[in-house]
Amino acid sequence: MPVIKILPHAQLCPAGDEFQAEPGVSVCEALLENGIEIEHACEMSCACTTCHVVVKRGFDSLGEIDEIEEDLLDKAWGLTPTSRLSCQAIVSDEDLTIELPKYTINHARENH
Ligand code: FES
Repeated sequence: MPVIKILPHAQLCPAGDEFQAEPGVSVCEALLENGIEIEHACEMSCACTTCHVVVKRGFDSLGEIDEIEEDLLDKAWGLTPTSRLSCQAIVSDEDLTIELPKYTINHARENH
């Protein structure tokens, strides 16, 4: 099974983490299953940007980005050439290194 390495993030995962994930799950699901509470404001339906991650290693193994994801990513805070919406990025058989961006844009939360 591929290993997902998470780089340290001040709030979500201060010491970083490393765990195995089943091929076929989304990166977002794998994070949540392993206790990393990444935001997923639209419940993983590819309609927000709060689950944005930067893929430091293994980007090409995650499959194609579709147009909807690409358009949304344009609005994500801290966009990079290897950014993905983690709920749309499906783990295959390659190890991954993931960085969680420092900020997210959560309109739902900002309005409260
Ligand atoms: S949770 Fe909204 S796009 Fe991933």
